[in-house]
Amino acid sequence: MANTSPRRPLPLLTSPHKGGRSALTCRFRCGDQCAHDVTNTSDNTYFGDVVAEAMTRRGMLRAGALGAIVAGVGIGTALPALADPDVDANRSGHGHGNGHGNGHGQKSGLRFTAIAPNTDDKVTVPAGYLSAAVVRWGDPVLPGAPAFDFEKQTAAAQAKQFGYNCDYVTLFPMGHNRGLLWVNHEYTDENLMFRGYTDGNSATEEQIKIALAAHGGSVVEIERVGGSGQWKLVTRGFRRYNRRITVRTPMKFTGPAAGSALLRTAADPRGTTPIGMLNNCAGGTTPWGTVLSGEENFNQYFVNGNGVPEAQKPYLTRYGVSTTTGIPSGNRRFDRVEERFDLAKHPNEINRTGWIVEIDPFDPDSTPIKRTALGRLAHEGATTSLAADGRVVAYMGDDSRFEYVYKFVSRERYIRGFDRHNRTLLDDGTLYVAKFTGDSPAAEIDGTGKLPADGQFDGSGEWIPLVTGKVSHVPGMTAAEVLVYTRMAADKVGATKMDRPEDVERNPVTGGVYVALTNNTNRTPAQVDEANPRPANKHGHVLEIVERRNDAGATTFAWSLPLVCGDPNDPATYFAGFDKTKVSAISCPDNVAFDADGNLWISTDGSQLGAHDGLFAMPVRGSERGYLKQFLSVPVGAETCGPLVSEDQRSVFVAVQHPGETTGATPEAPTSHWPDGGASQPRPSVVVAWHARGGKIGS
Ligand code: FEO
Ligand code: CA
Ligand code: CA
Repeated sequence: MANTSPRRPLPLLTSPHKGGRSALTCRFRCGDQCAHDVTNTSDNTYFGDVVAEAMTRRGMLRAGALGAIVAGVGIGTALPALADPDVDANRSGHGHGNGHGNGHGQKSGLRFTAIAPNTDDKVTVPAGYLSAAVVRWGDPVLPGAPAFDFEKQTAAAQAKQFGYNCDYVTLFPMGHNRGLLWVNHEYTDENLMFRGYTDGNSATEEQIKIALAAHGGSVVEIERVGGSGQWKLVTRGFRRYNRRITVRTPMKFTGPAAGSALLRTAADPRGTTPIGMLNNCAGGTTPWGTVLSGEENFNQYFVNGNGVPEAQKPYLTRYGVSTTTGIPSGNRRFDRVEERFDLAKHPNEINRTGWIVEIDPFDPDSTPIKRTALGRLAHEGATTSLAADGRVVAYMGDDSRFEYVYKFVSRERYIRGFDRHNRTLLDDGTLYVAKFTGDSPAAEIDGTGKLPADGQFDGSGEWIPLVTGKVSHVPGMTAAEVLVYTRMAADKVGATKMDRPEDVERNPVTGGVYVALTNNTNRTPAQVDEANPRPANKHGHVLEIVERRNDAGATTFAWSLPLVCGDPNDPATYFAGFDKTKVSAISCPDNVAFDADGNLWISTDGSQLGAHDGLFAMPVRGSERGYLKQFLSVPVGAETCGPLVSEDQRSVFVAVQHPGETTGATPEAPTSHWPDGGASQPRPSVVVAWHARGGKIGS
């Protein structure tokens, strides 16, 4: 990195950052995953099974955890998210609230009026706010990129233009009025991108190449508009940092599994140089100013899983790849232009996806790095924090039904400003998986959503180590096997099966860690437990972890469910005890983010409440803990991704992913015309919302 880099060290704890879908969403996003069998068939306990055992231990563990938190080690004023809800009022300087959550003198600073849920084909924001697209699918990113023309799209154009289905969004400020926006491009909706498209078998090779180029990520330079909270693409002059990363971008492996036999292929006999990234969903940033991007539903891109050696089949099955089918329905057939997607010919190629990828947005010539120490799963993303002693911690979810929550803790400590050292931190450390234990009798978790007698779905938990550096903690598996087949390692150590763990992110103000559990309609009544208390869970819930001593490096924690989602009129919902007549309905929490005041922002994917997906905000402390309000909703067929509240709290960014992605929609009969209006085709786009008078969001 040249000394002239405008990179700024990021605030240490901020890492802004990721159901009932249409048939199109299911097919293109995750390869009809919900229609397939659950891939976690391990006989791992649902922890309802182990409550009795835990009852003997939990008292000590939980009391220990909470006692330590009250001692307040580590993070600023670090107040326990589970403790006295009014305790922070004075500290925040907003302590003159009336406690009624009616918009007068609120302690949270979230003084916008909640929007009404709706089905409008537009982005809806509260009264007094404005919104606009920042960058759209097809907008020129690199020099020489042509203007977007839906009817004349080419692979060469797409490789220089903003990709499809934007997901994770983060902003690296360069001074007050400029910044670099990083955006993931998770997947493609070929049915909406190409006229007459039916499937990958009959697609033209050019269409397949366009899809390859529309995946990946983008770095685009943006600028503030007229001193407001609005931002727009810089289109004048040479944009030094702009970059497109695609399925064809050369990358490298680092960490303990790099070079392992499991990662070697004919094209890369050393197992160190994978090509491209796939299905990058959510993400995070590092304290040294890079992006961590998660490869998620990579399983859907490969063919001929039935042609791999028998010994490999269980590993494919566990990661959601059919070993009885040659060409899965809906497959994009990338193998028709790149043979590596054919598992019969290149059985190890799939092991080279499913990683956390680190990208340096300030160096467009840098090689993205797949960090093997963080394990291989359907990575929603990775968000970082610092342990009390300065080690780097990355929290991660594995977004499938009955999968697990993970964290990585580096061996060495972060040293501010020492980039060369910091960039090695994610290559050596311990990968853990979470086990959640409830503190209420199993009989009280009856599946109705009714709170147990102690008034909370809550309990204690532990981080179980899987591997440290090159030393495996899992009997019968080498370190490389633990990292490449992480799900199977976690099966063996008693991790808790969760309801689709997506974003996991630490609150920079309180130190609480929040896990979005999107939904899981496959959970049976016999499988409910205190951390996943509803069977056929279609609305999802949010779990809050308070690490022991509020230290992200701890190996035990306390947890509770502040949000059990759905229609607040449904008795099976819970909004942290707040008056449910005042809150917004929410379904399918997916991505979480925090503003600088520590309020929790939640975006949804696949709302089951009859209205469009949206973005919601909720204080997690004080008398308004649980006072959830909807800030924004997205157009027809879309999901709300991204969310990012800028450091100055004057701008809220969201990625509007897959607008118009409804069953039966085509370019001939689009169901959305957002964002361009008229008779236009829908275009996934990043949107910014801001206060019309330029103030802080919610003020
Ligand atoms: Fe790509 Fe887990 O949503
Ligand atoms: Ca997501
Ligand atoms: Ca309880």
